[in-house]
Amino acid sequence: MNSQINLFTPVQLGAYTLPNRIVMAPMTRLRAIDNIPNSLMATYYGQRASAGLIVTECTAVSPLSLGYINCPGIYTDAQVAGWRLVTDAVHEQGGRIFLQLWHSGRIAHPFLLGGELPVAPSAIAGVGSLHTPNGKVSLETPRALETPEIAGVVKQFGKGAENALAAGFDGVELHGAFGYLIDQFLQDGSNQRTDEYGGSVENRSRFVLEVMEAVTNVCGGNRVGIKLSPSNTFYGMSDSNPKETFGYVINALNRFGLAYLHLMEPNDIDLANREVINPVTPLFRQIYKGTLMANGGYDRQTGDSILANNDADLVSFGRLFISNPDLPKRLQLNAELNTPDQKTFYAPDASGYTDYPFLELQAS
Ligand SMILES: Cc1cc2nc3c(=O)[nH]c(=O)nc-3n(C[C@H](O)[C@H](O)[C@H](O)COP(=O)(O)O)c2cc1C
Repeated sequence: MNSQINLFTPVQLGAYTLPNRIVMAPMTRLRAIDNIPNSLMATYYGQRASAGLIVTECTAVSPLSLGYINCPGIYTDAQVAGWRLVTDAVHEQGGRIFLQLWHSGRIAHPFLLGGELPVAPSAIAGVGSLHTPNGKVSLETPRALETPEIAGVVKQFGKGAENALAAGFDGVELHGAFGYLIDQFLQDGSNQRTDEYGGSVENRSRFVLEVMEAVTNVCGGNRVGIKLSPSNTFYGMSDSNPKETFGYVINALNRFGLAYLHLMEPNDIDLANREVINPVTPLFRQIYKGTLMANGGYDRQTGDSILANNDADLVSFGRLFISNPDLPKRLQLNAELNTPDQKTFYAPDASGYTDYPFLELQAS
């Protein structure tokens, strides 16, 4: 126990010194009309620049990676220019921001992909539904990627990282969590390939490690993080031995000298669905040698205590950052927190997005 360290103790994160250990977790908000970031998004992220680090919402590395209507991409010049508005807004306020690089894999639909089938490690459908321009639809069985195609997908992540730097981002986070493509390769419930990308845990980890190689070659390891969710059951994810699978991959990530590993704890749905690793962070703390970011249901007290126990080095906050643009200040003053309104998480406009009050305004 090191009670000296709390959420407000500065910390070195790869290439950057952060003024606090409070990270804004990546959150999809679906305000990128036609998949292009815009000035409304710049206002939203700029408002939250007092975070030690902001990680953006998941961002598609290619047209086939688009899992949602109005989620942003990072593969066209217009998208890079749109993201530049966001990075400028955050930097003007003195903040730091990483882009979350994402491929949705089987969590997509031909209605979102110009008629093409989603791609995945195996032709196994996720469980759930999606909103598309033609209404709400169930997930369909994806097409299994051919072995020679995989190198092309790895390259898309590398290009995404290049574009992220061109847009002014301070680094990137790989979205390896929550049942999307990287996670689909890792877990054996969604990966039943018989080539070098399936079967053993070494083979199932090959894709994420190749992507990591491509992305760190562009940014340097000290500007790259990765988010994993070993206990996630979202969209029907499962693994027959998550301790072994995630233990292997987390150990393999040690060699990249990353800015951080971001681990998500199970939520109530995961805990109700099946027996999962709980808690996740202290277990993998023993394997991971670098900077560890904890996520999932934290508040000021639990955040301070995981840091004081030395079970993590930073804490990311999701929903509390939606409703509290000045979350670090509120936590520091132990001030009242605004409650996030779930109805507007994915609303099409500024409501529930840029209109949550700051402390001073609220007081007056
Ligand atoms: C509206 C919403 C959108 C989210 N979108 C993403 C996303 O794009 N990428 C991601 O890795 N996690 C996403 N998450 C998960 C959060 O990053 C975080 O893991 C989760 O909310 C738990 O943290 P919290 O308890 O502090 O909210 C999302 C969560 C919410 C509430």
